[in-house]
Amino acid sequence: MRPRRRDGSNLDRTGTSRRGRRPSVLYGRCALCCAVSVVTVTPTAPDVETWAERYVLTTELHVKLAPPPPPKQFRTEAAPLWLTAPGRPPELRPARRGERTPKQEALETPHYRARTLHAFLHHELQAAELMCWALLAFSNAELEFRRGLLAICLDEIRHMGMYAKHIRALGSEVGDFGVRDWFWKRVPSCRSKLEFVAVMGMGLEAANLEYAPSFAERFRLAGDEAGAQIQERIAAEEVAHVGFATRWFTRWTGGCDFSTWAEQLPAPLSPWVMHGRPIAEDARRRAGMPDDFVAQLRAYVPEPKGRAEARAEPA
Ligand SMILES: [Fe+2]
Ligand SMILES: [Fe+2]
Repeated sequence: MRPRRRDGSNLDRTGTSRRGRRPSVLYGRCALCCAVSVVTVTPTAPDVETWAERYVLTTELHVKLAPPPPPKQFRTEAAPLWLTAPGRPPELRPARRGERTPKQEALETPHYRARTLHAFLHHELQAAELMCWALLAFSNAELEFRRGLLAICLDEIRHMGMYAKHIRALGSEVGDFGVRDWFWKRVPSCRSKLEFVAVMGMGLEAANLEYAPSFAERFRLAGDEAGAQIQERIAAEEVAHVGFATRWFTRWTGGCDFSTWAEQLPAPLSPWVMHGRPIAEDARRRAGMPDDFVAQLRAYVPEPKGRAEARAEPA
């Protein structure tokens, strides 16, 4: 089957294809106030692939945060679909220049802690979308692998919900701060399922094994124990995501060799931008990365040719 390319540009504000089927509208009576209310019903997706495509392309914030549950069945034969960009709800405006992760002193203020968590929430959203992206692009991959991508996608959506709840507890809302689609600028350059697990699971998600505990510590120092615990819980759950990627990488390449992994990172990515500091050696080992892999990652220094790329944002 011929691969297709698609982005969110043919969608209206409801995330519905202008050429495609519109959501049906039901009119009902509210049992409490007796007023006639209008309820928009998104048609149920017939298969996981349709659900995944809709999730990436929707421009409705409430669907991004809490989509309907995915169907059980995968399409029997699905042509690879290369989505090039996600749908972005109008609430998620691009970050302005200089709108960066706040420094430690600023984390004393709930507003700045919310801004930090908002950036993390957007990482979770991109991770969820990119699991769907991979499921559609590598539609010929093993069913077990695609099932795993879907399960991780649902974890990322749950992580997003944990951040959204605490952002509200801190007095802000999802959409109060700008976002950057950094992962979307990098991950879709992966041309194979092997490159995808190398970049996404063993790179960006693995880096979060370092970033999340470090931010948990900073939140604790700022007196936000609940915020710290959320990040610790997410860091603990990310071990399984990194383990998933490492397991498939090992199965497809016959080992977990550092150089083989580094070769799979599409330029300008390199091992240099795929970890935080200090390296979370225990967590990476629990995720299945062998000792020599972790040692070579720690020792890696980029070739001295021009400026090193800015470090990756945590997943
Ligand atoms: Fe996550
Ligand atoms: Fe993850």
